[in-house]
Amino acid sequence: CGIVGYIGGQNAAPILLEGLTRLEYRGYDSAGIAVLGAKNAQVHRVVGRVRNLAAALPKRLTGKVGIGHTRWATHGPASEANAHPHTSEDGRICVVHNGIIDNADALRAQLADAGVTLASETDTEVLAHLIARSGADTLEDAVVEAVSRITGTYAIAVTDTAHPDRLVIARNGSPLIIGVGEREMFVASDLAALVRHTSQVAHLDDGEFATVFATGYRTFTVDESDTTKPATEIDIAAEDLDLGGYPHYMAKEIQEQPESVERIIRGRLDDRFGVARLDGLNLTPRELRGFSRVKILGCGSAYYAGQVGATMIEELARIPADAEAASEFRYRNPIIEADTLYIAVSQSGETIDTAFAVEEIKRKGGRVVGLVNVVGSTIARACDGGVYLHAGPEIAVASTKALTNMAIGFALIALALGRVRDLSNADGQRIIDALRAMPGQIKSILDEGPRIAEHAKEFATANSLFFVGRVRGYPVAREGAQKFKEISYRHAEAYQTSELKHGPLALIDAALPTVAIVPADELTDRNLAAVQQIKARGGAVLAVTHEDVDFGELDVPRIVVPKTEPELDPILLTIPLQLLAYHAALSLGYDIDKPRNLAKSVTVE
Ligand code: G6P
Repeated sequence: CGIVGYIGGQNAAPILLEGLTRLEYRGYDSAGIAVLGAKNAQVHRVVGRVRNLAAALPKRLTGKVGIGHTRWATHGPASEANAHPHTSEDGRICVVHNGIIDNADALRAQLADAGVTLASETDTEVLAHLIARSGADTLEDAVVEAVSRITGTYAIAVTDTAHPDRLVIARNGSPLIIGVGEREMFVASDLAALVRHTSQVAHLDDGEFATVFATGYRTFTVDESDTTKPATEIDIAAEDLDLGGYPHYMAKEIQEQPESVERIIRGRLDDRFGVARLDGLNLTPRELRGFSRVKILGCGSAYYAGQVGATMIEELARIPADAEAASEFRYRNPIIEADTLYIAVSQSGETIDTAFAVEEIKRKGGRVVGLVNVVGSTIARACDGGVYLHAGPEIAVASTKALTNMAIGFALIALALGRVRDLSNADGQRIIDALRAMPGQIKSILDEGPRIAEHAKEFATANSLFFVGRVRGYPVAREGAQKFKEISYRHAEAYQTSELKHGPLALIDAALPTVAIVPADELTDRNLAAVQQIKARGGAVLAVTHEDVDFGELDVPRIVVPKTEPELDPILLTIPLQLLAYHAALSLGYDIDKPRNLAKSVTVE
């Protein structure tokens, strides 16, 4: 979900709408705004996109204070009644909320017993009533009191028609940022909504509240003691968030990869010692040497990038490494070891499952570093150190350039870990040289776009597909299937090529095509044998492969990617799969940047 707020000298509605459009990638089931007029709050909400909201607003909607929200449904379906802002019965208090209130059912029952008519099925609505019914003298006190009665996660922004000079906001577990302008202030759950207006921002911490006036803000804690929270300068340009002539953000972000890869390696490759310089990790060589295991945690595509990373770390640094879905890890009472290096990987730095996994590790005394794209995000700040991805802002829900940089980030960490153990200088240099060549190689894959689009159109007609790969190729297949599912809504299943014959081969027929990852490496023959088995059962195969792979008699269409060092092959093998998913979704006419039911960053459980 996304939150915006405005207070200043301009008309709030257009600013709120523009901010919400920027946040739509966080959720797009419904949208709404509340603008404080002369006497009352004018609330407008719709099901669907921000553009529907814009169309539904009255021509003259004036007011210089307001809040807005774009929702990704958790409690109750996407309906107008469930859209935010939620209001108190008298309409005085309006609230927008990200997160989940765990004890909402109990509070809803208490409010109903007290005679309150609940207008929605949401957890958020209780906040509006609790604030309105508080006997406190100030809005701030009322918000503190209401928030003290809820358990769960929240970022909230509140308006009160009795105090039209302020917004009161609070954060616990969901991000919230104040943007500082000239005699005007902004509030947002995400920098994307602010960069058009200001580069001066202050991030609220968990447990912090703020009163935001047109001319300044005050931050405080639950016991009302002030905290000092100076604004800092951010380095995102507004143009970075525009489409820049591309039809979709996903297309733009795929094409940006040569430059974004340059950015993550810039200044970090040390040719003299064949190592990566990662000062941000905050780990001495001695500490790096002391780890006897690596555990990587992430969700969705970041988890698959973590699997790519684990294989690289095992191969290059010879340390046992594995990746696990952070969403599972945090709930299974994991054993935290002092000699394990934990790595949290996340584009947004706000995925709540990953953030809570980090908390769990820290609580139990583990050392955790982040591989995160968004600077200053929750996970980046919670970790003991880390490597920023420098992929630039990523807007499309389906992650592309950030994932590529995650895999490269893992290669850098593998170098740092390997070179204080038994990775030789020459082998370190071999990887460094390969990383330097990567932007050019990616460019040559992108040039193949039109050919890949042809394959994609064909594959988009199948109702179900397999993506298969083994060892290094398996996480590539998982990510390929994930992308395909996310934006083409086609059933796509990833399998280890080696496991096909142990069951799923039974499914193969002319209606179930397979995308096979067939790199030129020590497993090529085994992979080709599996392709042969699929073909023999009438299944169509598209191979993502290298020039040197000899398919012999096998009549298989191929997408050929440039060869890099074997350990790094997964990075380049993934790129055509991005294009495959993109063009499949394009040919099916789906909303590529905002696939149904998904959100870019899931800040709820
Ligand atoms: C959501 C997105 C996925 C993404 C995952 C992790 O589920 O839809 O595309 O991979 O979150 O996001 P993160 O920001 O932590 O990398």
